[in-house]
Amino acid sequence: MEAQAAYELTMLKNAERYAREAGALVADRMNSPLRIQEKMNKSDLVTAVDVMSESLICRLIRDDYPEHWIYSEETDGAEGDAWQRMLQPREGYGWIVDPIDGTTNYIHAVGHFAISIGIVKNGVPVCGVVHNPLTGDLYTAMRGGGAYRNGEKLAVGQERGLGDALLGTGFQAKDWHPGSCAAKQIGRMAGTARDIRIFGSASLDLCLVAAGRLTGFWHDGLYPWDAAAGIVIVLEAGGQVTNRDGRPYALSDNTLIASNAIVHAELQAVLSTVARDE
Ligand code: IPD
Ligand code: CA
Ligand code: CA
Ligand code: CA
Repeated sequence: MEAQAAYELTMLKNAERYAREAGALVADRMNSPLRIQEKMNKSDLVTAVDVMSESLICRLIRDDYPEHWIYSEETDGAEGDAWQRMLQPREGYGWIVDPIDGTTNYIHAVGHFAISIGIVKNGVPVCGVVHNPLTGDLYTAMRGGGAYRNGEKLAVGQERGLGDALLGTGFQAKDWHPGSCAAKQIGRMAGTARDIRIFGSASLDLCLVAAGRLTGFWHDGLYPWDAAAGIVIVLEAGGQVTNRDGRPYALSDNTLIASNAIVHAELQAVLSTVARDE
Protein backbone atom coordinates (compact mmCIF):
# COMPACT_ATOMS: atom_id res chain seq x y z
CA MET A 1 0.00 0.00 0.00
CA GLU A 2 1.17 3.46 -0.85
CA ALA A 3 2.58 5.34 2.18
CA GLN A 4 -0.07 8.08 2.21
CA ALA A 5 -2.96 5.58 2.05
CA ALA A 6 -1.40 3.53 4.85
CA TYR A 7 -0.99 6.67 6.96
CA GLU A 8 -4.63 7.67 6.39
CA LEU A 9 -5.84 4.15 7.17
CA THR A 10 -4.04 4.30 10.51
CA MET A 11 -5.65 7.69 11.19
CA LEU A 12 -9.06 6.21 10.36
CA LYS A 13 -8.54 3.29 12.74
CA ASN A 14 -7.45 5.71 15.46
CA ALA A 15 -10.51 7.91 14.79
CA GLU A 16 -12.71 4.85 15.24
CA ARG A 17 -11.11 4.21 18.62
CA TYR A 18 -11.52 7.86 19.70
CA ALA A 19 -15.20 7.82 18.65
CA ARG A 20 -15.84 4.61 20.57
CA GLU A 21 -14.12 5.94 23.71
CA ALA A 22 -16.08 9.20 23.56
CA GLY A 23 -19.26 7.29 22.73
CA ALA A 24 -18.90 5.13 25.83
CA LEU A 25 -18.53 8.26 27.97
CA VAL A 26 -21.53 9.98 26.35
CA ALA A 27 -23.79 6.91 26.66
CA ASP A 28 -22.70 6.34 30.25
CA ARG A 29 -23.63 9.89 31.30
CA MET A 30 -26.94 9.97 29.46
CA ASN A 31 -29.12 9.14 32.42
CA SER A 32 -27.27 11.34 34.94
CA PRO A 33 -28.47 14.90 35.53
CA LEU A 34 -27.09 17.03 32.68
CA ARG A 35 -25.68 20.51 33.12
CA ILE A 36 -27.22 22.35 30.16
CA GLN A 37 -26.26 25.81 28.92
CA GLU A 38 -27.67 28.01 26.17
CA LYS A 39 -25.14 29.26 23.62
CA MET A 40 -26.58 31.72 21.05
CA ASN A 41 -30.29 31.03 21.77
CA LYS A 42 -32.69 28.62 23.52
CA SER A 43 -32.36 26.04 20.72
CA ASP A 44 -28.55 26.15 20.66
CA LEU A 45 -27.49 24.09 23.66
CA VAL A 46 -24.37 22.54 25.11
CA THR A 47 -24.04 20.14 28.04
CA ALA A 48 -21.05 19.36 30.22
CA VAL A 49 -20.94 15.99 28.43
CA ASP A 50 -20.39 17.67 25.02
CA VAL A 51 -17.38 19.42 26.56
CA MET A 52 -16.07 16.24 28.22
CA SER A 53 -16.43 14.26 24.97
CA GLU A 54 -14.62 16.98 23.05
CA SER A 55 -11.77 17.21 25.60
CA LEU A 56 -11.29 13.44 25.49
CA ILE A 57 -11.20 13.26 21.67
CA CYS A 58 -8.88 16.26 21.36
CA ARG A 59 -6.50 14.84 23.98
CA LEU A 60 -6.36 11.50 22.17
CA ILE A 61 -5.67 13.24 18.84
CA ARG A 62 -2.96 15.45 20.35
CA ASP A 63 -1.26 12.46 21.97
CA ASP A 64 -1.03 10.64 18.62
CA TYR A 65 -0.76 13.57 16.18
CA PRO A 66 0.73 16.64 17.91
CA GLU A 67 1.59 18.18 14.52
CA HIS A 68 -2.02 18.14 13.18
CA TRP A 69 -4.54 20.96 13.60
CA ILE A 70 -7.93 20.34 15.27
CA TYR A 71 -11.18 22.18 14.67
CA SER A 72 -13.89 21.29 17.20
CA GLU A 73 -17.34 22.71 17.86
CA GLU A 74 -17.25 23.64 21.52
CA THR A 75 -13.75 25.15 21.35
CA ASP A 76 -13.60 26.78 17.92
CA GLY A 77 -17.29 27.45 17.37
CA ALA A 78 -17.63 29.50 20.53
CA GLU A 79 -16.49 32.72 18.92
CA GLY A 80 -19.12 32.39 16.19
CA ASP A 81 -16.56 32.92 13.44
CA ALA A 82 -16.63 29.34 12.16
CA TRP A 83 -17.15 30.30 8.55
CA GLN A 84 -14.41 32.86 8.36
CA ARG A 85 -11.86 30.61 10.00
CA MET A 86 -12.74 27.64 7.87
CA LEU A 87 -12.44 29.74 4.74
CA GLN A 88 -8.75 30.25 5.48
CA PRO A 89 -6.86 27.49 3.70
CA ARG A 90 -5.30 25.19 6.30
CA GLU A 91 -2.38 23.10 5.14
CA GLY A 92 -1.65 19.53 6.11
CA TYR A 93 -3.81 17.10 8.04
CA GLY A 94 -6.53 18.30 10.40
CA TRP A 95 -9.32 16.84 12.49
CA ILE A 96 -12.85 18.23 12.59
CA VAL A 97 -14.73 17.10 15.69
CA ASP A 98 -18.37 17.20 16.70
CA PRO A 99 -18.36 15.71 20.22
CA ILE A 100 -22.15 15.13 20.19
CA ASP A 101 -24.02 15.76 16.96
CA GLY A 102 -27.65 15.93 18.02
CA THR A 103 -27.25 17.54 21.45
CA THR A 104 -30.96 18.35 21.65
CA ASN A 105 -31.83 14.69 21.06
CA TYR A 106 -29.25 13.73 23.68
CA ILE A 107 -30.79 16.11 26.24
CA HIS A 108 -34.25 14.66 25.56
CA ALA A 109 -32.95 11.05 25.61
CA VAL A 110 -33.90 10.50 21.96
CA GLY A 111 -31.40 7.93 20.72
CA HIS A 112 -30.39 9.64 17.48
CA PHE A 113 -27.07 11.39 18.15
CA ALA A 114 -23.47 10.65 17.28
CA ILE A 115 -19.83 11.40 17.72
CA SER A 116 -18.54 12.72 14.39
CA ILE A 117 -14.84 12.90 13.46
CA GLY A 118 -13.70 14.04 10.03
CA ILE A 119 -10.10 14.01 8.82
CA VAL A 120 -9.11 16.64 6.28
CA LYS A 121 -6.01 17.03 4.11
CA ASN A 122 -5.33 20.49 2.66
CA GLY A 123 -8.99 21.40 3.18
CA VAL A 124 -10.43 18.25 1.56
CA PRO A 125 -12.18 15.62 3.74
CA VAL A 126 -10.39 12.28 3.33
CA CYS A 127 -11.77 10.08 6.15
CA GLY A 128 -14.92 10.08 8.26
CA VAL A 129 -16.18 8.28 11.35
CA VAL A 130 -19.70 8.69 12.75
CA HIS A 131 -20.67 6.64 15.80
CA ASN A 132 -24.02 6.26 17.55
CA PRO A 133 -23.09 4.79 20.94
CA LEU A 134 -26.67 3.73 21.72
CA THR A 135 -27.17 1.54 18.63
CA GLY A 136 -23.47 0.70 18.41
CA ASP A 137 -23.45 1.72 14.73
CA LEU A 138 -20.00 2.79 13.57
CA TYR A 139 -19.97 4.34 10.09
CA THR A 140 -16.56 4.74 8.49
CA ALA A 141 -15.07 5.75 5.15
CA MET A 142 -11.73 6.62 3.64
CA ARG A 143 -11.46 8.15 0.16
CA GLY A 144 -11.15 5.46 -2.47
CA GLY A 145 -11.83 2.73 0.10
CA GLY A 146 -15.64 2.50 0.28
CA ALA A 147 -18.02 3.20 3.15
CA TYR A 148 -18.94 0.78 5.92
CA ARG A 149 -21.30 0.32 8.87
CA ASN A 150 -19.78 -2.04 11.44
CA GLY A 151 -17.55 -3.43 8.69
CA GLU A 152 -20.41 -4.06 6.26
CA LYS A 153 -20.07 -2.25 2.91
CA LEU A 154 -22.66 0.46 2.25
CA ALA A 155 -24.36 1.56 -0.94
CA VAL A 156 -26.79 4.40 -1.52
CA GLY A 157 -30.41 3.63 -2.49
CA GLN A 158 -31.63 3.03 -6.01
CA GLU A 159 -34.75 5.24 -6.04
CA ARG A 160 -35.02 6.78 -9.48
CA GLY A 161 -37.16 9.84 -8.77
CA LEU A 162 -38.31 12.12 -5.96
CA GLY A 163 -41.74 10.45 -6.05
CA ASP A 164 -40.11 7.33 -4.55
CA ALA A 165 -37.72 9.26 -2.30
CA LEU A 166 -37.63 9.46 1.49
CA LEU A 167 -35.75 12.68 2.26
CA GLY A 168 -34.17 14.05 5.41
CA THR A 169 -33.65 17.69 6.24
CA GLY A 170 -32.98 20.03 9.15
CA PHE A 171 -32.83 23.73 9.86
CA GLN A 172 -31.61 26.14 12.50
CA ALA A 173 -34.65 26.76 14.73
CA LYS A 174 -33.71 30.45 15.05
CA ASP A 175 -34.08 30.90 11.26
CA TRP A 176 -37.54 29.29 11.05
CA HIS A 177 -40.66 31.33 10.31
CA PRO A 178 -43.58 30.52 7.99
CA GLY A 179 -42.01 32.40 5.07
CA SER A 180 -38.45 31.19 5.68
CA CYS A 181 -36.50 29.41 2.98
CA ALA A 182 -36.54 26.18 5.05
CA ALA A 183 -40.33 26.35 5.49
CA LYS A 184 -40.87 26.91 1.77
CA GLN A 185 -38.47 24.14 0.82
CA ILE A 186 -40.23 21.67 3.11
CA GLY A 187 -43.61 22.80 1.76
CA ARG A 188 -42.56 22.33 -1.83
CA MET A 189 -40.77 19.05 -1.19
CA ALA A 190 -43.70 17.64 0.79
CA GLY A 191 -45.80 17.72 -2.36
CA THR A 192 -43.05 16.13 -4.43
CA ALA A 193 -41.18 13.47 -2.43
CA ARG A 194 -42.67 10.32 -0.89
CA ASP A 195 -42.07 11.78 2.58
CA ILE A 196 -39.71 13.91 4.69
CA ARG A 197 -38.00 13.28 8.02
CA ILE A 198 -36.27 15.67 10.45
CA PHE A 199 -34.18 13.43 12.70
CA GLY A 200 -31.89 16.06 14.28
CA SER A 201 -28.34 14.80 13.76
CA ALA A 202 -26.91 15.87 10.42
CA SER A 203 -23.92 13.51 10.55
CA LEU A 204 -26.13 10.47 11.20
CA ASP A 205 -28.66 11.66 8.62
CA LEU A 206 -25.86 11.70 6.03
CA CYS A 207 -24.99 8.14 7.07
CA LEU A 208 -28.61 7.14 6.47
CA VAL A 209 -28.21 8.40 2.90
CA ALA A 210 -25.01 6.35 2.57
CA ALA A 211 -26.84 3.28 3.86
CA GLY A 212 -29.70 3.68 1.36
CA ARG A 213 -32.27 4.38 4.07
CA LEU A 214 -32.80 8.03 3.17
CA THR A 215 -32.71 8.79 -0.56
CA GLY A 216 -31.40 12.28 0.07
CA PHE A 217 -30.82 15.01 2.64
CA TRP A 218 -30.58 18.78 2.45
CA HIS A 219 -29.67 21.36 5.06
CA ASP A 220 -28.72 25.03 4.94
CA GLY A 221 -26.32 26.56 7.46
CA LEU A 222 -24.42 23.48 8.56
CA TYR A 223 -21.02 23.90 10.17
CA PRO A 224 -17.90 21.99 9.11
CA TRP A 225 -18.12 19.66 12.15
CA ASP A 226 -21.68 18.63 11.19
CA ALA A 227 -20.68 17.59 7.69
CA ALA A 228 -16.96 16.74 7.41
CA ALA A 229 -17.23 13.04 8.28
CA GLY A 230 -20.65 12.34 6.77
CA ILE A 231 -19.86 13.67 3.32
CA VAL A 232 -16.93 11.25 2.87
CA ILE A 233 -19.26 8.41 3.92
CA VAL A 234 -21.95 9.43 1.39
CA LEU A 235 -19.44 9.87 -1.45
CA GLU A 236 -17.77 6.52 -0.73
CA ALA A 237 -21.17 4.80 -0.73
CA GLY A 238 -21.72 6.03 -4.31
CA GLY A 239 -23.71 9.17 -3.49
CA GLN A 240 -23.32 12.79 -4.47
CA VAL A 241 -22.83 15.84 -2.24
CA THR A 242 -23.05 19.37 -3.60
CA ASN A 243 -24.04 22.86 -2.60
CA ARG A 244 -27.32 24.25 -3.93
CA ASP A 245 -25.56 25.47 -7.08
CA GLY A 246 -24.56 21.91 -7.91
CA ARG A 247 -20.84 22.36 -7.23
CA PRO A 248 -19.06 19.68 -5.14
CA TYR A 249 -19.67 20.55 -1.49
CA ALA A 250 -16.88 22.47 0.22
CA LEU A 251 -16.71 22.80 4.01
CA SER A 252 -17.21 26.57 3.73
CA ASP A 253 -20.49 26.19 1.80
CA ASN A 254 -23.73 27.41 3.36
CA THR A 255 -26.01 24.93 1.54
CA LEU A 256 -25.69 21.14 1.35
CA ILE A 257 -27.53 18.58 -0.77
CA ALA A 258 -26.65 14.87 -0.46
CA SER A 259 -28.34 12.08 -2.37
CA ASN A 260 -28.08 8.71 -4.05
CA ALA A 261 -26.83 10.66 -7.13
CA ILE A 262 -29.75 9.42 -9.27
CA VAL A 263 -32.26 11.95 -7.89
CA HIS A 264 -29.68 14.67 -7.29
CA ALA A 265 -30.49 16.94 -10.23
CA GLU A 266 -34.21 16.73 -9.51
CA LEU A 267 -33.69 17.48 -5.81
CA GLN A 268 -31.40 20.39 -6.58
CA ALA A 269 -33.86 21.78 -9.13
CA VAL A 270 -36.77 21.81 -6.66
CA LEU A 271 -34.65 23.39 -3.89
CA SER A 272 -33.35 26.01 -6.32
CA THR A 273 -36.86 27.12 -7.29
CA VAL A 274 -37.41 28.18 -3.66
CA ALA A 275 -34.05 29.90 -3.41
CA ARG A 276 -34.76 31.81 -6.62
CA ASP A 277 -38.08 33.04 -5.18
CA GLU A 278 -36.32 34.52 -2.13
C1 IPD B 1 -27.07 20.08 15.02
C2 IPD B 1 -27.61 18.83 14.38
C3 IPD B 1 -28.94 19.13 13.72
C4 IPD B 1 -28.84 20.26 12.73
C5 IPD B 1 -28.27 21.49 13.39
C6 IPD B 1 -26.91 21.17 14.01
P1 IPD B 1 -25.51 19.83 17.21
O1 IPD B 1 -25.81 19.80 15.61
O2 IPD B 1 -26.74 18.32 13.40
O3 IPD B 1 -29.43 18.00 13.03
O4 IPD B 1 -30.13 20.54 12.22
O5 IPD B 1 -28.11 22.49 12.40
O6 IPD B 1 -26.41 22.33 14.64
O7 IPD B 1 -25.58 21.25 17.64
O8 IPD B 1 -26.49 18.95 17.88
O9 IPD B 1 -24.09 19.34 17.25
CA1 CA C 1 -24.32 22.49 18.86
CA1 CA D 1 -23.52 19.18 15.01
CA1 CA E 1 -22.42 19.17 18.65
